[in-house]
Amino acid sequence: MWTPVANLEEFKDGRLVIRRPEHRRPILLLYTGEEVFALEDLCTHDGGPLHEGEVEEGAIVCPRHGARFDLRTGRQTLPAPRPLKVFPARLEGETVLLDL
Ligand code: FES
Repeated sequence: MWTPVANLEEFKDGRLVIRRPEHRRPILLLYTGEEVFALEDLCTHDGGPLHEGEVEEGAIVCPRHGARFDLRTGRQTLPAPRPLKVFPARLEGETVLLDL
């Protein structure tokens, strides 16, 4: 179900971390200027804070040990052992909606 979760005005540097009562982990929203992406904010290697990572070529890079996670699929590189959970996201005007 598409659910409004944030407004672009709340973003800082194209990023916003939100918490949803139904999810154990915080969700990182990323706005690239064209698209919005939503993924869990904790690296699957050792819990690195992905909101502090750089975005490069469609992936976010964990600031701790450099694992990369594809923004669309959550697919990972080592040393992360598992993909990241990603959520379908879209914009309606300035409102960010997630398919939760
Ligand atoms: S905590 Fe992210 S790569 Fe180690």
